Amino acid sequence: MSLYLYMQKTSLVSIDANLRNKEAYLIQKSISIDDLPEKNEREAERKVSYLFWDKKGNLLLSNPKNAFYKKETSFFKPNRNDKRMRTQTISGHSYRVLTHVKKREELKKLPSAATIQLVYNIDPEVNVLKQLLLLIGFGCSIGLLISFFVGLFLSSRALVPIQRSWEKQSQFVSDASHELRTPLSVIQTHLELLFRHPTNTIEEESTTIYKSLTEVKRLSKLVQDLLTLARSDSNELLINQKFFSIDELLRNIVEQFEPIADIKEIKIEDEIEKNIIYFGDKERIHQLLVILLDNALKYSDPKGNITISLIKEGSSLRINIEDTGTGIPETDLPFIFDRFYRSDKVRSKATGGTGLGLSIAKWIVEAHGGLISAESRLHKGSQFIIKLPLRN
Ligand SMILES: Nc1ncnc2c1ncn2[C@@H]1O[C@H](COP(=O)(O)OP(=O)(O)OP(=O)(O)O)[C@@H](O)[C@H]1O
Ligand SMILES: [Mg+2]
Repeated sequence: MSLYLYMQKTSLVSIDANLRNKEAYLIQKSISIDDLPEKNEREAERKVSYLFWDKKGNLLLSNPKNAFYKKETSFFKPNRNDKRMRTQTISGHSYRVLTHVKKREELKKLPSAATIQLVYNIDPEVNVLKQLLLLIGFGCSIGLLISFFVGLFLSSRALVPIQRSWEKQSQFVSDASHELRTPLSVIQTHLELLFRHPTNTIEEESTTIYKSLTEVKRLSKLVQDLLTLARSDSNELLINQKFFSIDELLRNIVEQFEPIADIKEIKIEDEIEKNIIYFGDKERIHQLLVILLDNALKYSDPKGNITISLIKEGSSLRINIEDTGTGIPETDLPFIFDRFYRSDKVRSKATGGTGLGLSIAKWIVEAHGGLISAESRLHKGSQFIIKLPLRN
């Protein structure tokens, strides 16, 4: 719209200047019929018509003679309230009109003329402006239409990740409720069993109590894991970074796991590079390694082997945890880092997991700017590879 107004203004400015020039020429020549520009200008350049009016508003003279039809000229009749420069539309044509009221000293020649009008046909300019307005209107509606559809497309695309994360969250909540219900109902059943034999001693009911306690422990671990993941989702869990010796941490964890491995007759071997200082959250890295070692032990048959290695590779650390256990079916491999995902075969084995361990492991690695991946062959074993960037 501002372009249209600008064009309208600039096109009139040059026309008005032209009219004023011609007016000045008339005054300079002291206005005489003989001196009228008709004689001085080439017809091709002349678009200005002159109307001479007397005091009473009668047309004395028009130049060129037949500039307007008689009935048209009456529309130009000067009026006291006329603006000096105005635009007038007559019979579908537009004109720019400059009205010059003669002053006393200008009255020498053609004394009866009181008012002179210089009339310029501005049809071409008006037409161009009309076209421009049409074009702007057309362009605007096309632009509006395009931006509407582009907006619709972009907003639907922008909503996709929000929708996905919403679905993920709803799934998480429903899975969590389901997982919480199982241990709760087991505990409830066992406690009710105790009431059936009120005279029994604790020793006599030790199996029931033990089972309830196991479920309470499971429940408490589940709630802890759920809390960790819920907090990581809301970015509430900050990584508390400091420098620590990661090789020492790894050796300590291996030592802690050795007695459990001995019971299962599983051998843990380590290939840990020495003196590696890492900048990260010690507690979380500890949790990560426990999750992976726990899995390696849990999903290994007796007489198996677990190898842990820590290697410095350029500007990053590589931790490998390899086992000769049950392995993961190829179809399950892409999903093992998903929340609550458990390989069906293992689920039936009653290994007592919740399927949250690896999703927490993934979060910890990613929070440290690293990557975790898994390779596995069914019945042969699995390998978890962690790459953590080192800070200088
Ligand atoms: N070392 C491994 N060998 C074979 N299967 C594995 C191994 N590690 C993980 N898995 C498979 O990936 C699944 C997900 O592991 P994850 O640690 O997340 O859950 P979980 O061990 O079942 O439960 P928890 O939350 O108690 O750790 C497991 O159920 C198992 O099927
Ligand atoms: Mg696990």
